[in-house]
Amino acid sequence: MIKLQIPATSANLGAGFDALGLALTYYNYVNMEEADGIFIKSLDGTPIPEDEHNLVYESAKTLFEICGRPFKGLSIEQINNIPMARGLGSSSACIIAGLFGANTLMGNPLGLDDLVNLSAQIEGHPDNTAPALLGGIVTAVFDGREVHWVKQEVFTTLKFVVVIPDFELKTEKARACLPTEISHKDAVFNLSRAALFSASLLTGKYQNLRTAVNDKLHQPYRMELIPHGNDVFETAYSLGAYAAYLSGAGPSLMAIVDADNEFFCGKMKFALEKLGLKNWKVHELHIDNTGTKLL
Ligand code: HSE
Repeated sequence: MIKLQIPATSANLGAGFDALGLALTYYNYVNMEEADGIFIKSLDGTPIPEDEHNLVYESAKTLFEICGRPFKGLSIEQINNIPMARGLGSSSACIIAGLFGANTLMGNPLGLDDLVNLSAQIEGHPDNTAPALLGGIVTAVFDGREVHWVKQEVFTTLKFVVVIPDFELKTEKARACLPTEISHKDAVFNLSRAALFSASLLTGKYQNLRTAVNDKLHQPYRMELIPHGNDVFETAYSLGAYAAYLSGAGPSLMAIVDADNEFFCGKMKFALEKLGLKNWKVHELHIDNTGTKLL
């Protein structure tokens, strides 16, 4: 039985729609071994598909087939800490667990590039799958065939404080509300900010991050689907966050906060209660530079 740890991920990072993503210190765990049939169990009570529609299973089976290896079935145990449909890369974590797990069980016939490409093909975009596999902050371009990517480790004490609403927002719905065209001016607005984000994060110029997370491609449309989302952004800035952005397709909202901002989480929870959002969760996370690993 192999044991895997797979990180949650936060994609887009404001302006880097479908291109930027980073891994976080918040993990799913998957145990996997070959078996005669399908044996899938949730170890933490999270409801998951226990048949061939389980995403970890499906992804693993795909890899066995691609490699032309005989496949009889799998025994899979999952601990799903990453909440589903909340903008924290839960489906990418399952895809990566399946691909990485199957590759390990077969003796690693495929390399990292293959896994990055396949996972992006399954998910449709690379900005959660690539950092879930690789860790750090990943810049990725999926040209429809393959992913051109760079992983950079981030050595920072910054806190990534995620506010998780008590409702789901499916990525398909959050993509369906986006415009099909934007102006040249808005394209320049976004590409300049996406570039500014990674350069600023990596060089410690955190004062730039508030400008860098502004975006005209997705956040203005998706925020309409998140009641109180703008209140959370305002609260984050009033509590001294460097930046606040919609994590992935949402509905989770991320605040980037200085390590010295000691009571940010407690103050955010208090503010959420005042807004009547006592079921929303707040977690203080950091960047995971490792990505998926065998335990
Ligand atoms: N880049 C993707 C999106 C991430 O914003 O739709 C969510 O899976």
